[in-house]
Amino acid sequence: MEDKIKDYLKEINTFNEFDEKKVEAFRIKFLGRKGLIPALFDEFRQLEGDKKRLFGKPLNDLKQLASAKIEALKGASHASQKETNNLDLTRPAYSELPGTRHPVNIVKNEIVNIFERIGFNVSEGPEVEDDWHNFTALNFPEEHPARDMQDTFFVARNPDWALRTHTSSVQVRTMEKQKPPIRTISPGRVFRNEAISARSHCIFHQVEGLYVDKDVSFADLKQTLLYFAQEFFGPETKIRLRPSYFPFTEPSAEMDVYWGLENEVDYRMTKGTGWLEVLGCGMVDPSVLDNCGIDSKVYTGFAFGMGVERIAMQRYQISDIRYLFENDQKFLQQFQSAL
Ligand code: DAH
Repeated sequence: MEDKIKDYLKEINTFNEFDEKKVEAFRIKFLGRKGLIPALFDEFRQLEGDKKRLFGKPLNDLKQLASAKIEALKGASHASQKETNNLDLTRPAYSELPGTRHPVNIVKNEIVNIFERIGFNVSEGPEVEDDWHNFTALNFPEEHPARDMQDTFFVARNPDWALRTHTSSVQVRTMEKQKPPIRTISPGRVFRNEAISARSHCIFHQVEGLYVDKDVSFADLKQTLLYFAQEFFGPETKIRLRPSYFPFTEPSAEMDVYWGLENEVDYRMTKGTGWLEVLGCGMVDPSVLDNCGIDSKVYTGFAFGMGVERIAMQRYQISDIRYLFENDQKFLQQFQSAL
């Protein structure tokens, strides 16, 4: 019996015909009523008790293998027949899986779009920046403790160069080059020498805004930010401005939007206040205008800056900023349908 099982196993394993008739003949040979496997079972029934124990399992396995093999070969022969008989040339081809936009880009594009609609243009500056544009022109004097607000990556061998710590440096470059009226929005990557954690990363993105003209007032700033908040977060969105400090704006504020306080997630996201911090802003400090060659007796301006990752995390309920930098397909594919 042992030899027979071995021989049959070998024959079943090596059988590889797709022709329907041959598969049927194979089925009858092994599994038909008078087939080899039922015959083995008959033999098995005559065996003594301990031998029965020995051959029970191998025999059942053999039967299962034969059935599975026959099913598989039948399936294959059906499939190949269908394909040749009913080939549908009008069927659309299988498309490649399309790429997806990164959530940071989705949010950045949307912010830029909202400001473009009210006449802002887009400007960019270098990621390796000099001390003047990143700090000094923006009222961060040397040795001033305000520089500690932003831990900086310096470029080796040249203490004057650093990776920009904010996109506010682009404000300076724009004001140096252009005469008012200036309405510009500057998206870009920024760098800070910070420990990486769920909430902060050493590389992230900001969008900076700048408006300089005659008679620009804090009311203009507030109205522009309200417009932005309602376009981005929804038409009923409420905002509030909290006094704050930035060296390059006076007065300075931070804008919160009302998020709600209905469930546990709202509590966690707003630290129990219902308000979500979205951006920093203020009236451009007159000495910054003067530093950039714009007469602060004639012109005034407002500026604002926001972190793109932070807003993307709020919008998509992403709990850890590191997901945004890992390029894990399983994460990114979730943004498949977003524009
Ligand atoms: N540069 C600030 C930061 O990195 C953000 C900011 C605050 C930008 C106020 C501004 C502003 O233009 O007016 O945190």
